[in-house]
Amino acid sequence: MDSQTWMMLSEKYIAHTYARYPILLVKGKGTRVWDMDGREYLDFVSGLAVCNLGHCHPKVVKAIQDQAERLIHVSNFYYIEPQIRLASLLCEHSFADQVFFCNSGAEANEGAMKLARKYAKEKMEGDRYEIITMERSFHGRTLATLTATAQEKFHKGYSPLMPGFKYIPFNDIGSVRKAIDSKTCAIMVEPIQGEGGVNCPSEGYLKALREICDKKKILLIFDEVQVGMGRTGKLFAYEHEAVEPDMLTLAKSLAGGVPIGALLIKKEIAESFEPGDHASTFGGNPLATAAGVAALLAILEEGMLENCQQVGDYFFTRLEEIKRKFPLVQEVRGKGLILGMELKTEGGSIVKEMITKGFLINCTMGNVLRFLPPLIVTKEEVDQMIVALEEVFSRISNSSE
Ligand SMILES: Cc1ncc(COP(=O)(O)O)c(C=O)c1O
Repeated sequence: MDSQTWMMLSEKYIAHTYARYPILLVKGKGTRVWDMDGREYLDFVSGLAVCNLGHCHPKVVKAIQDQAERLIHVSNFYYIEPQIRLASLLCEHSFADQVFFCNSGAEANEGAMKLARKYAKEKMEGDRYEIITMERSFHGRTLATLTATAQEKFHKGYSPLMPGFKYIPFNDIGSVRKAIDSKTCAIMVEPIQGEGGVNCPSEGYLKALREICDKKKILLIFDEVQVGMGRTGKLFAYEHEAVEPDMLTLAKSLAGGVPIGALLIKKEIAESFEPGDHASTFGGNPLATAAGVAALLAILEEGMLENCQQVGDYFFTRLEEIKRKFPLVQEVRGKGLILGMELKTEGGSIVKEMITKGFLINCTMGNVLRFLPPLIVTKEEVDQMIVALEEVFSRISNSSE
């Protein structure tokens, strides 16, 4: 069957929750993917920050193969060896003492919010349950995480939303102070907002959040679903400012492409979870956590963080060069290999044109081109993408003259 027929069947049988580009990808290796018709693409999307190690990293493939032959799934009624390994590795390399495993970013955030409420009931004075989140945030698509996501466009059609959330502008410490009241139990924030347009806080913002949370005795939750696991050039984005949260959520790239989510927790807070309080059938299953161990070790042992910093800095300067040449570019921002280029025009058609040139890029918020290549991307590959992008920008500039 040819790719066109497959795409027709997709439209017929798969719910239309995604606006898809007309290519059907069948193979991936490193920074490249191939479609069913044999066309090759350089991937600057990485499955939306999932394939940080590149596609089909040999150590992850081997770990999945070995684990699949031994044990794919057992219930969390029993101890699970790769789950224990992954949890200890995550704790050794972070602020956390304990981990709750699940299957996605939304589920990790649900866990964080449930635990914040439970901890508040047990340890905080009064009746505290409200969570403060930031405008332009993104925390997931379940009803609670959707409510936590302070962007109206995601709320449309789903009212009534969950009670217990308050929204404030991102990167504005004054509004944090004003928003906290006798109901507040936690602040949840992405150290860099991904879906919301690659928005970086100014230096000192996360530290100030930490200080306020300590003073008010409320919890600080970092959502590192998109920026965790090396994406910013450190294993966790919070390390850049040496500010530790009380809880941190991960998913996306944690298991090199196998679905997984994790909630990293400080011990005192984790103690509010007792057997039966929270669970997930697949959470931390042997296959996913075996892949997670292999992925985490590869990030740490193969120089990916260093490459991310170096190539990320280079990439940033190349994007800045484009900005200087083309007035349609408003701003370049980001850290490591999560980079955004805000345009004065919509970016969807640019993404389509880049696909025809053999490059996968993404556009978020309608006008922010977002670049999320695997952490192994080279300067030469960045150059190739920049050449293609310049061609597209030149064509747009010439046609609008
Ligand atoms: C920061 C952040 N949090 C949560 C999520 C939701 O993750 P998932 O789609 O795995 O539920 C995303 C997804 O893009 C995200 O970027």
